[in-house]
Amino acid sequence: KEIFRSDYTALPFKVSNVSMNFDIRDGETFIESELTIVQNTGEGDLVLDGEADALTLLSISLDGKDLVEGVDYSIDGDTLTIVSSLLPTTADGTSVLKTKVKVHPEKNTQLSGLYKSGSMYCTQCEAMGFRRITYYPDRPDNMAIFDSVRIEADKEAYPVLLGNGNKLEGGDVEGDRHYAVWEDPYPKPSYLFCIVAGKLGSVSSSYTTVPSGRKVHLEVYSEPENVSKLGHALESLKKSMKWDEDTFGLEYDLDVYNVVAVNDFNMGAMENKGLNVFNTAYCLADPKSATDLDYERIESVIGHEYFHNWTGNRVTCRDWFQLTLKEGLTVYRDQEFSGDMMQSHAVKRIEDVSSLRGRQFAEDAGPMSHPVRPDSYISMDNFYTATVYSKGAEVVRMYRTLLGKDGFRKGMDLYFERHDGNAVTCDDFLSAMGDANGVDISQFSRWYQTNGTPTVKYSSKYDEESKTYYLTLTQESNSDEPLLIPISVGLLDKASGEEVVATKVLELKEKEQTFEFDGLNGDVLPSMLRGFSAPVKLVQAEADASEEEDLAFLAARDTDGFNRWEAGQKLYTSLIFQTLEGNQDESKTLDYVEEAFGRALNMDGNDYSIQAYALTLPSESTLAEEMTVVDPVALHKARGDVRESLAQKYLSEIRAKYDELTETMESSGSGEDIKLDATSIGQRRLRNVLLGYLCCIKDTAEERDAASELAMKQFESSYGMTDRYSALNCLASMDGEESVVARRDAALQKFYDDANGDALVLNKWFMCQAVADLPDVLDRVKALVKHPDFTLTNPNRCSSLISAFTMNAAHFHAEDGEGYNFLGDMTAQVDKLNPQLSSRMGRGLIQWRKYSEERGALMKEALQELADMKPISSDLFEVVSSSLKE
Ligand code: ARG
Ligand code: ZN
Repeated sequence: KEIFRSDYTALPFKVSNVSMNFDIRDGETFIESELTIVQNTGEGDLVLDGEADALTLLSISLDGKDLVEGVDYSIDGDTLTIVSSLLPTTADGTSVLKTKVKVHPEKNTQLSGLYKSGSMYCTQCEAMGFRRITYYPDRPDNMAIFDSVRIEADKEAYPVLLGNGNKLEGGDVEGDRHYAVWEDPYPKPSYLFCIVAGKLGSVSSSYTTVPSGRKVHLEVYSEPENVSKLGHALESLKKSMKWDEDTFGLEYDLDVYNVVAVNDFNMGAMENKGLNVFNTAYCLADPKSATDLDYERIESVIGHEYFHNWTGNRVTCRDWFQLTLKEGLTVYRDQEFSGDMMQSHAVKRIEDVSSLRGRQFAEDAGPMSHPVRPDSYISMDNFYTATVYSKGAEVVRMYRTLLGKDGFRKGMDLYFERHDGNAVTCDDFLSAMGDANGVDISQFSRWYQTNGTPTVKYSSKYDEESKTYYLTLTQESNSDEPLLIPISVGLLDKASGEEVVATKVLELKEKEQTFEFDGLNGDVLPSMLRGFSAPVKLVQAEADASEEEDLAFLAARDTDGFNRWEAGQKLYTSLIFQTLEGNQDESKTLDYVEEAFGRALNMDGNDYSIQAYALTLPSESTLAEEMTVVDPVALHKARGDVRESLAQKYLSEIRAKYDELTETMESSGSGEDIKLDATSIGQRRLRNVLLGYLCCIKDTAEERDAASELAMKQFESSYGMTDRYSALNCLASMDGEESVVARRDAALQKFYDDANGDALVLNKWFMCQAVADLPDVLDRVKALVKHPDFTLTNPNRCSSLISAFTMNAAHFHAEDGEGYNFLGDMTAQVDKLNPQLSSRMGRGLIQWRKYSEERGALMKEALQELADMKPISSDLFEVVSSSLKE
């Protein structure tokens, strides 16, 4: 059933207070709920959500009287309706509804509601999991106080019992059992509910908030064997707490903050009040098993969930269409946090924009394209998308760009002042931003209702006489009325190369607008869309002959770090497409690219990460965005050819730099001493980019042997996962002579053996084989599906192999369509277990319109087969059918 944003109505009755009891038994759990019902609008029935497949209703009573089905209440599908005449008839009247249900967490493979992961019980309620736990108005605008949540379980098997908020009491119960009672003083929607029961180990610490001086107990839990990997998460939590105080004046509001890492989890993590649940992949780390990227991701996700305490929990969403209100804002906040922690906002911006372009742009151009605030859904779980999250963060960033740092902070302050404790909308956020600054930004609201990536075109002319530069901008988007787009611009003098106009934010409000810059000394070159100030595609109106010369100039001279990188990327892109079309010889592009690459290689200073990114070609998915018909095989080859020719041309310099870095790194610490400061991370990043270049030279037997020998040497001599895994990834794509194959296989075997069963390391082992550039990679992946360590029930493991393979575009899109059939089969199997996961997997097929007719037809066939499957989950159905429409 499709739900529409425009159909929102407030609840007739709502729950004000909740008491629950969880009686956890082997194979079944009994759940009692006591809901205090009060009038809200008073107009209509009390409709409770409860998923028929998950719940068995054992008893139901209202104000002490047992209710009779068909008379007092009725159950229809996934709702239970209570006759309104039984309910409070005055605004201050209350009724108490008691229900008892039975659920089977052990059989819950959907990982929504109460389920078992390994030896522990845990819950996931966002978006609609609470209705798989009890009957309840399971929507975010019902904020209730959970006065008491009692959990009872076997004492020996489940010594740790956790809930939201503060622990009130605990103790033994007859028959080797025990219990704990938790209380959460803050009103919250049901999606933030959580309990955990398990045999858990932990690390703990405390944090005293500023300025209130509240001493908060912090504890991070996992299965006992992983306790040694929890330190980084705990440290990251403290940094997050301090950062939110320093940046937004926001303090934590309870005496405890618990985090639990679980192995089976559909998403990254969940911000349940006072009791976050994390996917182990976003929580556990030690140098031997986690890469630098893993460390960075953990810090940012810990930050993200922590920041939700204000942007999400204290102020939440009125309905699920407003999801970006909390997610876009919280992603923006975690991006800023990470940029501060990395001490480089340019590096962070390059990473975030790359991911936006590689994932969100494609989504916005495909069949599931939706505004950051969608208009309808069948399954809400399908809308936890790159658009809602990443583009949503760009929308928040634009407020910051338009209003300035202080203006944005004023807007945030007013937002909390007005809405603390409430469930609100994106319009409320916009009003707070505007009102706090005394400006009318109503035009900005169009970003919330417009899907697709807008295009901004620019053209310019310099008038010698008046020494004035005219910059004309036009916009095109799916919005009938123009969007308000902040365009950050700087001007560089063409003759001297100096910046003559510093970064300025132009407010593009019309379809077409001309901006004037006067008082110049000579012609200038614009540095457009600095820091990627808006999520748009920027193009020059009339591509002129000097376009690439200008890019080369900017790649060398721009004062904006992001745009310097961007100019280089555009040059690389241009060369790759010329190579693809076989017409590179007539142009000067190669010269410009080599010049930019050579400069990046010889960059001095210690901005190693910037240097690494300047040497990295745009990803295949980013490049695919620029093609009307995507040919993944040809694209992969063209990019590979450019990469190899750069590697050949600069071989000795790359090698020298690689050796130089190896030496520096060894002298500043080696073996188990893995440092995580920006310089050390940057050095590893750069050296691994260089290793990648050195390993892509493999035309002759000698070259192949040399490459595999070098990668093997790094693999064997490195202790930390970053360097080991980079080397392994190089080795995994190597083929040919016996010596080469032997090294590859030995490294894979060694990596597997050293993993010693560690789930996260095994995921890496599966993944590097799924993304390998080998002709028979699909057969290898199919063989790995049969590996004893592979399972479709664990989302991480499943994605490490199946979703990773779909990222291996040239092979997934092999002309025979076997990749599509494989993904279709796997998706069908997973749909029986976990619809949230299968619908994510199914997305690998829905972009069929972007490919050739032959490929498109094969993808469609695989989609049709899924669409015809019976039964099919509504999650997967929504994704598949959207792409087969019309
Ligand atoms: N609110 C969580 C986060 O972004 C994500 C939960 C998503 N859950 C889901 N079932 N789609 O931090
Ligand atoms: Zn979030």
